[in-house]
Amino acid sequence: MKSKIAIFASGRGSNSRAIIHYFKDHPFISVDCIICNRKNAGVFDVAEEEGVAAFHFGKEEFQSADKILELLKIRGVDWIVLAGFLLKVPSLIIGAYQGRMVNIHPSLLPKFGGAGMYGDNVHLAVLEAGEPKSGISIHWVDEGYDTGSLIQQFECIIEENDDLQSLKSKIQKLEHEHLPQLLESLIQNEKG
Ligand code: GAR
Repeated sequence: MKSKIAIFASGRGSNSRAIIHYFKDHPFISVDCIICNRKNAGVFDVAEEEGVAAFHFGKEEFQSADKILELLKIRGVDWIVLAGFLLKVPSLIIGAYQGRMVNIHPSLLPKFGGAGMYGDNVHLAVLEAGEPKSGISIHWVDEGYDTGSLIQQFECIIEENDDLQSLKSKIQKLEHEHLPQLLESLIQNEKG
């Protein structure tokens, strides 16, 4: 049986699209659904275009966790990936998906992580600090913001003329290239 992934997302959904494309017709992994907390997020268009089920949950509904867990259970979801997801994941979901839930963060954690460090805010802070490099961090999800143990990081150089747009596109290129592959190898390892 294929391992099923649920993607939790709040934004534009470019990582969601990359993950869906990568696992299309994959022999042992499939993307089952997208769960999103923002009604008008671009990721709903991605889901529709790619023919993937998508569900909206409000913040409170999400934080009470029962309905989400029930949905994940009914659909037989094995793995969760947070791909640009804004809300803190409640302990009940973390407990149920221990060792099977990963997050992607657009900086070299522990630098530029924590509450409020999301999307463009991260890149702006990195540029403001005059960092020579940035990158992406893929880590296990725990109860904090961006504090779970690191699985892998990938770096890029920041040039003198880089701005928000150019840094963001370097980072997204890294994300789209590495996140699906890393997920695949984690799932493969778990299957043994
Ligand atoms: C991605 O860059 C992801 O790393 C970031 O949000 C963006 C979502 O883009 N996540 C965080 O900042 C988590 N703290 P997308 O909606 O186009 O996939």
